[in-house]
Amino acid sequence: MAHNSPKRHLITAALPYANGPIHIGHLAGAYLPADIHARYLRLQNKEVLFVSGSDEHGAAITLRAKKENKSPQEIVDFYHELNEAAFKEFGISFDIFHRTSSELHHQTASDFFKVLNEKGVFTKKTSEQFYDEEYKQFLADRYITGTCPKCAYEAAYGDQCEKCGSALSPLELINPISTLSKKSPVLRETTHWYLPMQQEEPWLKEWIEEGKLDGKIQHDPKTWRKQVIGQCKSWIDGGLHERAMTRDLNWGVKVPVENAEGKVLYVWLDAPIGYISATKQWCEDHAKNWEEYWKSEESEILHFIGKDNIVFHCIIFPIILKQHRGFNLPNNVPANEFLNLEGKKISTSRDWAVWLHEYNQDFKNQQDVLRYVLTSIAPETKDSEFTWSDFQARNNSELVAIYGNFVNRTLVLTHKYYEGIVPELDSNYAEKANIENQLQTLSESIKSKLDKLQYRDAQNDAIAIARLGNKFLAETEPWKLIKTNPEEVKSILNLSLQIAANACIALSPFLPDSSKRLADMLNLKAYTWSDLGNIELIKNGKGINEAEHLFSRIEDDIIEAQIQKLNSKMELKEEPVELSEIPEFKEFISFDDFMKLDIRVGEIKTAIPVKKSDKLLQLEVDLGNEVRTILSGIAKAYSPEELVGKQVQVLCNLPPRKMMGIESNGMILMAESRTGKLELMSPQQKTDSGSVIG
Ligand code: 2FM
Ligand code: ZN
Repeated sequence: MAHNSPKRHLITAALPYANGPIHIGHLAGAYLPADIHARYLRLQNKEVLFVSGSDEHGAAITLRAKKENKSPQEIVDFYHELNEAAFKEFGISFDIFHRTSSELHHQTASDFFKVLNEKGVFTKKTSEQFYDEEYKQFLADRYITGTCPKCAYEAAYGDQCEKCGSALSPLELINPISTLSKKSPVLRETTHWYLPMQQEEPWLKEWIEEGKLDGKIQHDPKTWRKQVIGQCKSWIDGGLHERAMTRDLNWGVKVPVENAEGKVLYVWLDAPIGYISATKQWCEDHAKNWEEYWKSEESEILHFIGKDNIVFHCIIFPIILKQHRGFNLPNNVPANEFLNLEGKKISTSRDWAVWLHEYNQDFKNQQDVLRYVLTSIAPETKDSEFTWSDFQARNNSELVAIYGNFVNRTLVLTHKYYEGIVPELDSNYAEKANIENQLQTLSESIKSKLDKLQYRDAQNDAIAIARLGNKFLAETEPWKLIKTNPEEVKSILNLSLQIAANACIALSPFLPDSSKRLADMLNLKAYTWSDLGNIELIKNGKGINEAEHLFSRIEDDIIEAQIQKLNSKMELKEEPVELSEIPEFKEFISFDDFMKLDIRVGEIKTAIPVKKSDKLLQLEVDLGNEVRTILSGIAKAYSPEELVGKQVQVLCNLPPRKMMGIESNGMILMAESRTGKLELMSPQQKTDSGSVIG
């Protein structure tokens, strides 16, 4: 099944829960890279099927329905429509965006369970679990609170105490209370079907670490992202355990055996099978055979997901597929890390997010701007951060000033000097200018990066085509040359048009809307990826259309309004209750690298707010031998008055960095709690300013 050039490509993007809207974290994590990949393959005329859909089951949906006095179906109908429309407007080119509440999906997931059950894959076990008598349902760990047995904190959760950080099980809580009825739950016996994953360890290890499956090479592990392999290895090395595949709930795919009333398939056996049912539906609609995508040796499967779903897609789903028999396993699972927003974790419950449907509304026809920014900061190897000021800067100084400006100047000059008719290219001039070579080098680099699923770097190379064009115009100055050497201007503009056409093609997987508009302006009809690097894409003597601006500047007031909107919604919310995951430890560094860090004690002498920023404070910090200006994003956690006189840890050897027009010379170190609260790391007793920490 190892194919350098598979005949067919199935691309899946994680099924989003239909109990809330899509935000930029979802886009950066799964949908945007998946879409770029699908478009890139289609541009090469490959056979591609890009599927996703709404995950319409789970306790969160039933609870939300209860809270809003609606039926679960009403909730999922609403969000399915909202999200499907928002994705469409944003240019996510799913071939199908299916639903797990569909009959076809219920049938598919149900059959899957039956096959596995008949093969004896599951173990059936009865245990005691907490049950809410008023709500008549078993409680997931998160829906139980009580007193922590370790630190006596009274509002600990069934899986974790937020105060002392201990991992708990609901049975350990003292005085457990259901968060639904606010009453004490009772213990009840319940039976579930478990997947004994420990038995699968040997082949999983071989598959993850060596890319081997059934003795054959299925993929090259070097092509998988390090953090994906790392997470799987640490799971496997920690020992796999059995996992319940069913839940007590009245909403979902019913467990298809007798005496299983009130039980449904858990997310593991439900959502990823949604990829299969979506494939079936699309194939049914297009008279195709779905098995070709899932079972053929000539097909490749890529799962695009966020890192919270790695174990799900690299361990649990592969076990299910392999045990079922006959299904291909994914050839790669390009999971992304998380995207943070303005210094904090994105949080649905605290409304700390940029919602896709709101962006579409606030920035009409500017989908490509967000697409560009999210790919520029794609969290491919580590968590990254979206800020509105960076969004503005990338739009104004890259999309507008480089790409848009180059295209506009080229088209305007072609109209001005040649009435919009493509002038001739002199071949001697073309050779001298060396544009073709540069375009070919860039094209190869973009392709190689896209093949390695490195979208961020690939987009950088694609925008470099527009940079090349800009530089070419700046160096040749056709607006001056027109008086002294009009012949040469013809070649310059011809080449500029060819560069614009190349940018249009190379950027089309990333920025499909602007590429489409540019193709219309250039009268560039059908094109494919293999046209890249060609300098005869726009033919002599053909007409081009009027120039329109591809992008427009985004002014400060628009950005301020977005920041305002974000902060005002946050203020309305109660204290956060969501706990972020404890990040994994980073890779080893050398002792020498550690010694490079210059961390010292500093004393904050003055603290003032930074204009137009509700996050940053400007601090004057005494480091013993000098006083430095340092900007710190702690305005939400500390008032300026509180800070004056405090000793803090300062990382002194970061290069100066300008933010909001002020130069910052170092960084104040802080701890961020799992609820997102920032805490300064001050010495226990006052010490000398400038003391070295190490
Ligand atoms: O984590 C989630 O968002 C779930 N809805 C599952 C997504 S992965 C899948 F679709 F397999
Ligand atoms: Zn505790």
